[in-house]
Amino acid sequence: MNHFNKIVLDSSSIHFAKHSNLKTLNEIRAIVTNQFSDSKLTSFPKDKESYHNHLREVQDELNKKEYVHKIVTQIFDDLNQYVDYEEFLIQSNLYLRATRPQINITEEAIGWHRESFYGPNMEDSINVWTPILNVTEFNTLRYIPDSQTIPDDKIKLKSQVSDLTKKGSDRNKVGLLYAPKEIVSGVDLNKSEPMLVPEGCSSVFSGNLIHGAATNYDEKIRFSVDFRIIAKKDYKIEAAKTFHAASGKPYFVELNKC
Ligand SMILES: [Fe+2]
Repeated sequence: MNHFNKIVLDSSSIHFAKHSNLKTLNEIRAIVTNQFSDSKLTSFPKDKESYHNHLREVQDELNKKEYVHKIVTQIFDDLNQYVDYEEFLIQSNLYLRATRPQINITEEAIGWHRESFYGPNMEDSINVWTPILNVTEFNTLRYIPDSQTIPDDKIKLKSQVSDLTKKGSDRNKVGLLYAPKEIVSGVDLNKSEPMLVPEGCSSVFSGNLIHGAATNYDEKIRFSVDFRIIAKKDYKIEAAKTFHAASGKPYFVELNKC
């Protein structure tokens, strides 16, 4: 079967890319299971920072072990087709999301957004979102179907300042926002759908698709990892976010240099 027969994009251009085997996913699952065991979780003091400090350390471990590269390798043919066989760059670091159930927790997940809200050069980025453990319809990432076609200037935003996430803090390094933006008009947020990714797959979708709101309404911590890729031809070096906040590395790198 060739690539063209294999891939069917749905109406909102979300593609579920099947990993060639489960090795990478199972390795990440083993690390997460070990690092977030019940005994480890109860050992954290009740303050909020210690949880995100630990999460940042585990995220660092995954990045040291080059899991962006490994996931990309697992789904390379699909990514290659998604970018129309253009050469592409990959984000140097992944984010590990470990979203706790929402009871008594605030600012645990990111609100509705498209990638360009939070960085120059991101309007052409492509998201790669991979469920790891305990992802259900009650805590998965949500999206607004077809919203990738809404022009930026139709979307009205309100800037906020986070109460909990300081720039450069562990919370910030695991992807929580110190200056989140709220969509106040231009997108019908009532039309959201849960992103239900089949086992053994990563979800690949436009950075312009409005997504987020992955509040955890289930009972266990929900784990996923995500990063972005971008076609080399779309990467504007002069507008690029030079360094990734979590690592000090360039935000996008060549596939073989992450
Ligand atoms: Fe995002």
